[in-house]
Amino acid sequence: MMDIFHITGPVRLSGRITVSGSKNASLPIMAATIMAPGKSVIKNAVRLSDVTVLGRLLSQLGAKLNRNENDDLHIDSTVIDNPIGEYDILRKMRAGICILGPLLARCKRAKVSMPGGCAIGDRPVDIHLKGLQQLGAKIHLKAGYIVAQAPDGLKGNDIFLGGPFGSTVLGTANVLMAATLAKGRTTIEAAACEPEIADLANCLNRMGAKISGIGSPRLIIEGVSCLKPVEYSVIPDRIEAGTFMVAAAITAGELRLQNCPLGHMMAVVDKLRNIGVTIESQNNGCIITRTGGLKPADVTTQSYPGFPTDLQAQLMALLSLAEGNSVITEKIFPDRFMHVAELNRMAASLRKEGPSVIISGVKKLMAAPVMASDLRASAALVLAGLAAEGTTIVNRVYHIDRGYKSIENKLNSVGAKIVRKSI
Ligand code: EPZ
Repeated sequence: MMDIFHITGPVRLSGRITVSGSKNASLPIMAATIMAPGKSVIKNAVRLSDVTVLGRLLSQLGAKLNRNENDDLHIDSTVIDNPIGEYDILRKMRAGICILGPLLARCKRAKVSMPGGCAIGDRPVDIHLKGLQQLGAKIHLKAGYIVAQAPDGLKGNDIFLGGPFGSTVLGTANVLMAATLAKGRTTIEAAACEPEIADLANCLNRMGAKISGIGSPRLIIEGVSCLKPVEYSVIPDRIEAGTFMVAAAITAGELRLQNCPLGHMMAVVDKLRNIGVTIESQNNGCIITRTGGLKPADVTTQSYPGFPTDLQAQLMALLSLAEGNSVITEKIFPDRFMHVAELNRMAASLRKEGPSVIISGVKKLMAAPVMASDLRASAALVLAGLAAEGTTIVNRVYHIDRGYKSIENKLNSVGAKIVRKSI
């Protein structure tokens, strides 16, 4: 069975949405529990398919997982006796690569499938492997698997993790986690500064790690002999929040977002304000309104604190309706434009020029059957469907379910008309 969305537009959203916990913070934090034998509790780890799949991977390693009545995720990592990350899981959920560092640190060996590529590009892990080798791991590839050993444990080192596209988020997570149990000091230069990495580092310190420079491109880790289980609540999902900000803007509506600290979203807030969206901070959230026209913009995606690549597709849907020409340049995943052809099917006027897309604003979008391809491109098609005239059919909704917990319920609660159908 495959789910599809029927989205009837145009609508004007109005009301209140609570932002869930961050997927991209939950995943590495779940992996970190591998290194702390015992029972950890991860709060706010929202029930997304990616979180469920990583949970299945942890179970295969030997951990025991369940959810309590508050939906908190309980992970008992007392036993980790099968340090193997299977291809069948990794090929569907690339982020599973973040078990590699923790397994090396805990078990001194690991066999993890190369994750392979996905719709937004081939997803190399060469920097992950380089960093772990510099911590003393012996690594070779065999039949599509990464085989890593560190029989004498890992040893601290000075490591540069920068790559051709800047820093690597999960590469930093892998090397950071492994370094917490390495002997001696590790310095990671060109570390990813994403809030999700800062959240991981804060969680590791709560487990007994000694990490300084959190949130900066230079992390300093003093190795410790062991980590202890922890109860930890992950940060809100800034990408889900940004998606809902665009939903308010593209429908010329008014949304009040709760559990949405703007401190992690300054590049997004700055860009949306330049486009003509009003965003006011309020308590632990914000109010987004758009009353006038949309102004065109030039946007380039960058590592944090720059404009996030995970909101590039959503912004493109919005700028499709701006009064004038915009340019979006994708510097993190140059192929991350699967949504361009689909938005053009909805009467947008987009033209790809190398790493950029030229957007000629149109007066309105028209409903059409469209195909979801990756997580964020699919969200962009939903947003376009809210504004388009008629009923848009989005196929392969499973892509959306990977990163948004029942997005249709949250949007319908503020005036959207989205029906999920199984075909
Ligand atoms: C994380 O992926 C996120 N996923 C992605 O979000 C996000 O788009 C990405 O960071 C960039 O912000 C999770 O956190 C689970 P990278 P990650 O390593 O860590 C190149 C979503 O929608 N690179 O920071 O895999 C790479 O090809 C997902 O939630 C190397 O060259 O991304 C890319 O061009 C999609 N060698 C750039 O670096 C490496 O060893 C950034 O990738 C690693 C990466």
